[in-house]
Amino acid sequence: TFAMPLLGQDAKANYDEAKIPDFTLPDPLVAQDGTKITTAEAWEKIRRPELLELFETEVYGKAPTAKPISSRVVSEREVFDDKATERQVRIFLTGDEDGPYADLLLILPKSDKPVPVVAALNFKGNHSLSDDPAIPLTKSWVRNDASNGVTKHVAVEQSRGAAKARWPVERIIDRGYGLATVYYGDIDPDFDDGFQNGIHGAFRTEGDKLAADQWGTIAGWTYGLSRIADYLEEQDAIDHDRMIVMGHSRLGKTALWTGATDPRFDLVISNNSGCGGAALSRRRIGESVWRINKSFPHWFCDNFLKYDNNEDACPVDQHELIALIAPRPVLICSAQEDYWADPKGEFLSGLYADPAYRLLGTDGLAADKMPPVNKLINSRIGYRIRSGGHNVLPSDWEAYLDFADKQLRGK
Ligand code: GCU
Repeated sequence: TFAMPLLGQDAKANYDEAKIPDFTLPDPLVAQDGTKITTAEAWEKIRRPELLELFETEVYGKAPTAKPISSRVVSEREVFDDKATERQVRIFLTGDEDGPYADLLLILPKSDKPVPVVAALNFKGNHSLSDDPAIPLTKSWVRNDASNGVTKHVAVEQSRGAAKARWPVERIIDRGYGLATVYYGDIDPDFDDGFQNGIHGAFRTEGDKLAADQWGTIAGWTYGLSRIADYLEEQDAIDHDRMIVMGHSRLGKTALWTGATDPRFDLVISNNSGCGGAALSRRRIGESVWRINKSFPHWFCDNFLKYDNNEDACPVDQHELIALIAPRPVLICSAQEDYWADPKGEFLSGLYADPAYRLLGTDGLAADKMPPVNKLINSRIGYRIRSGGHNVLPSDWEAYLDFADKQLRGK
């Protein structure tokens, strides 16, 4: 049965499986020159670098070489009845105290052993995670959100705690995981300004136009997540073999690109990431490449515009983004009513990444068709479709941590 798309989505988009044109996906295990990739070594030496380069030049854009960070602890205290420590740290993303910074909120369960941590950007500011006034309102540009009193792109008191339903922090702590979160707008504001502001501004001369293969905003957010990883790697309280990156929606796309480019993340979780995330572009159902480039011209590099209504010409598709994470565990999460993000296309990219995982000697996706709702497929490529719409729910976090418990066990 066909259900209408949710408000804010494009009713003119195709939502009908029967109207998907025939297409052939590029084979993750065939190199651009036609060579079959049959060994783990050939994957690492030939195919993986080639795919990474193609995603860089054609989809997300190349980020500059990273500069070392510097950081300053702003506050530290005990929270949740002394079960956890909470630290606020200002991370100078290019090492320069006059350059861009991101405020990290790091909450770790008390433990005599290093703890696993989930790194995740948030959409509304660190202050939106809890009602606690000790977390200052972000001073960065924010998206307007009239229901929480934000109308001038400036965070206000009313938006404090606005996202707490999405962040069951105490429960995450009780399950033995830490949380490292940063407001995404600290890294790069989420609007099209010709790549002048945010992290882009720190790497370019004002007024320069970026080349068509240079980083868009998703790659900018990824740059920020990798700088958070720089900081987390320095902390003895953190288990550096159990670093997780998670993101929802546009930040789910970002989590996947981060997992593909930064192997320090041991496990990757994308929630409802859709077009430009886990969903296969060639299916052209729900949000299309043309639509996403039109609505969000700053997310991808300009080369990606070549594939507007021309998906078959793109040398890669999104199953190969999943394959770039191999052999590390990746969990793809969909929502049943999130038609805009194409749940089936999200599942299929996991399925078609499976051969790359198997080549590297791990299991892949332990399902060949979509599982029933709310059932977690807990294999190295994990998949779950939950009932309901585009969102992050406490039950999603239970699935993320069940997946992490199993997939990172014994590491
Ligand atoms: C829009 C966009 C999606 C994106 C989503 C989000 O719906 O079209 O691609 O994932 O916003 O980030 O919430």
